[in-house]
Amino acid sequence: MSKPVNHESLPETAGAWRALLSRKIQRRALMKGALLAGIAAGMPIPLRVAEAAEAALGQAAPVFPPKQADSRLRFKPIPPTTKDDIVLPSGYRYDLLAAWQDDIGAGKFGFNADFTAFFPIDMLDKGLDPNNVAIGFARPNMSSADGYLLVNHEYVNPLFVSEYSGEGAKTEEQLKAEVAAVGMSVVRIKRNKNGRWAIDPKDALNRRIDARTPMMLTGAAAKIDGGPKVTGTMANCSGGTTPWGTALSCEENFQDYPPEAPLGYGWPADPYAKKHYGYVVEVDPFDSKSTPRKHTALGRMRHENVAIRVGKDGTVVAYMGDDKTDSCVYKFVADRKLADPKNRAANMSILETGKLYVADFANGKWLLLDYDTQEALQKAKDSKDKLLFTSQADVLADARASALALRATPVDRPEDIEIHPLDGSVYLALTNNTGHGNFHGQIVRIEETNGDPVAMTFDWSLFATGGPQSGFSSPDNMLFDRDGNLWMVTDISSSRLGKGIYKFHGNNAMFFFRTAGNNVGTAYQFASAPNESEMTGPWWTPDSSTMFLSVQHPGEESESLDKLTSHWPGGGTAIPRPGVVAITGFSRRA
Ligand code: FEO
Ligand code: CA
Ligand code: CA
Repeated sequence: MSKPVNHESLPETAGAWRALLSRKIQRRALMKGALLAGIAAGMPIPLRVAEAAEAALGQAAPVFPPKQADSRLRFKPIPPTTKDDIVLPSGYRYDLLAAWQDDIGAGKFGFNADFTAFFPIDMLDKGLDPNNVAIGFARPNMSSADGYLLVNHEYVNPLFVSEYSGEGAKTEEQLKAEVAAVGMSVVRIKRNKNGRWAIDPKDALNRRIDARTPMMLTGAAAKIDGGPKVTGTMANCSGGTTPWGTALSCEENFQDYPPEAPLGYGWPADPYAKKHYGYVVEVDPFDSKSTPRKHTALGRMRHENVAIRVGKDGTVVAYMGDDKTDSCVYKFVADRKLADPKNRAANMSILETGKLYVADFANGKWLLLDYDTQEALQKAKDSKDKLLFTSQADVLADARASALALRATPVDRPEDIEIHPLDGSVYLALTNNTGHGNFHGQIVRIEETNGDPVAMTFDWSLFATGGPQSGFSSPDNMLFDRDGNLWMVTDISSSRLGKGIYKFHGNNAMFFFRTAGNNVGTAYQFASAPNESEMTGPWWTPDSSTMFLSVQHPGEESESLDKLTSHWPGGGTAIPRPGVVAITGFSRRA
């Protein structure tokens, strides 16, 4: 049985999301109570009650063809720790693939690595599997020892990257260093005979994409602020992959970059103050000359990541969250269906046009963000009585304002959203919302009606709740394995780590959860992160023998280069360097 939900960790102040959560928890407790009471009394359990209880506990009927599931715990969970290293259970090891400033042939590896995605070298020859969401649409017979790794770089810490003191204007040189340390890296990686992973800096397709790389906007808002040709990308957080073998990198905290922003990176207003950021960026890792495309049809918001599922008829659906407190969850339904997975050219434009929906959790409905048909969008005004939107381009360019105008449900800060590989349900990490008294966050499970990703209605339930009772706090990125087990990394902010109500946790960590059978929703700690870092972007090789993982912002609370709070990965007195690792020791399953 799953552990009891601790009501103490629920928001303290009234709010729409809190009220909805409470209702769900009460329903879940009632159903579970009915089921347990029936068992205890030795009575036959009415099927309806049993089914409802099972559904509430997260065990819906599979909608994809049943596959063998294996929820065995294959590692001995580790206790929370504050060791300045990636700590793993016995039998597991990590290889450092690349860290900030490493030469990758095409330039220097960027700062604050976040998303990772592995593209097997033979991926395009063998054709992708549109149903294999667990390993990014790769087929199990593809290479698990050779391929391209795309890693993105979310933001810079001036203390390390430019040594900017915070006083006065940045020099040209400092700006150059910062602008070049964000974006993405594509790098060839190989596993050698000894089982160790390393990069090949000589590969011709290695690439650095940064805040100066030319890009193109697509979709209804492509011409916004002088588009479609735009400059660079920044604030790349998590992402996803497509069934045609491209990467999707998500621009998140773009609002921090314009000079007038509170964080003020001090970057030039032209081009970085335009509405050219805050999109899902599609990159082809197999073509180093290709122009990255930013798809405005998927909305402009603080995109955390994107999870793609293909419906039975080939319809491509993308789930996304807006990582801001009191923001919403979205679903994009492409106009064009998936063609032959080997016909990449035909699939490349799928994300350019489609319908964007936002979730109404109170009524279990997807609401269409469409200017032409939604009167609420046509009439929406700002505080100065000025119309908020005059076109679909305006709607897409401010998805959050549009969503709230349609009375979609603001939730407690959506981080990752991922698709269960066996039943198609959608798992959503709500990291926390301390302003509402939601200190530890939840993982929510969304079930589309009839398991159909194109459905306009859904139900949802609570999968796991953070707090001392469950051992985790502030869920962030998630990764399913092919058996439907969930791996999740936490992101407690460094200023809170090890203090007060977060003391139970140790450093940020990775947890394993079963999603079916016994102990659904119980968290088992698999890894612990270096000091003041979060682990991000977990990703599998096709045979699930290796997990790639980034370590972001180790030692971020360091006051100066003389007072460092982490020395990962160099150890000793080295300055901390964000990087990406390959974890091995998982039992290989082809
Ligand atoms: Fe960049 Fe939402 O984490
Ligand atoms: Ca994140
Ligand atoms: Ca986070």
